[in-house]
Amino acid sequence: MDFSAVIVAAGSGSRAGQGRPKQWLSLGGKPILRWSAEALLTAGAARLVVVIPSGDEPLAVEALAGLKGWTTAQGGAVRAQSVLSGLNALADRPADEPVLVHDAARPFVTAHHVRDLLAALETADGALPALAVADTLKRRGDDGTLITVSREGLWRAQTPQAFRRSRLLAAYAAWPADRGEPTDEAGVVEQAGGRVALTPGDQRLMKLTYPEDFAMAEAFAAETRV
Ligand code: CTP
Ligand code: MG
Repeated sequence: MDFSAVIVAAGSGSRAGQGRPKQWLSLGGKPILRWSAEALLTAGAARLVVVIPSGDEPLAVEALAGLKGWTTAQGGAVRAQSVLSGLNALADRPADEPVLVHDAARPFVTAHHVRDLLAALETADGALPALAVADTLKRRGDDGTLITVSREGLWRAQTPQAFRRSRLLAAYAAWPADRGEPTDEAGVVEQAGGRVALTPGDQRLMKLTYPEDFAMAEAFAAETRV
């Protein structure tokens, strides 16, 4: 099945504290953005849109040298705006084509994840990889009291997330302005009444967010090369 992909890579990486945005940092000898760009193109993406900060075009050209089938779009102030910018850059593709929306900060996506997502999308309005919550959860009340919350049925959402592009754009258009910024696309499609399916999540689809995440990612990168 033909599909396209959007990688959002227009953040500033402030929590990672590495001095420059995560997407341009090297991991296992190649830029973080390149890991998922290579993987999604290898998995068969007919077109890949890489959403980057304004002015960072030369960095993308350097990071993705030698790869074919990608274009850039300009990022927005918040992630959701970057996603929409990427989706709009696919306007010449069929409206109901599956599109995967992926965080550059999750470098270890594979063709296997993509296959699961596209298969799940056949019978749902969206699909995302997710891991069951492993920690015990607590809710702290305003007065400081703790209450243990059941983790039964709770999942940690990852990316890539798969949708038909027209369905996702319609859901974004219907997102209530007073709800604040959506934190993932599945939430937007659910809000619009869509049914989103889960595929098996993967510890390797962790998002590189804090400084200590990079050591684990280097270990994954080393395993991936052998
Ligand atoms: N992202 C984006 N445009 C934004 C904000 C985020 O494309 N305006 C992308 C990031 O580049 C990243 C993904 O969304 O690949 C997930 O965001 P996050 O992990 O929060 O990355 P940053 O926003 O870069 O990091 P921070 O929030 O720590 O500044
Ligand atoms: Mg952010």
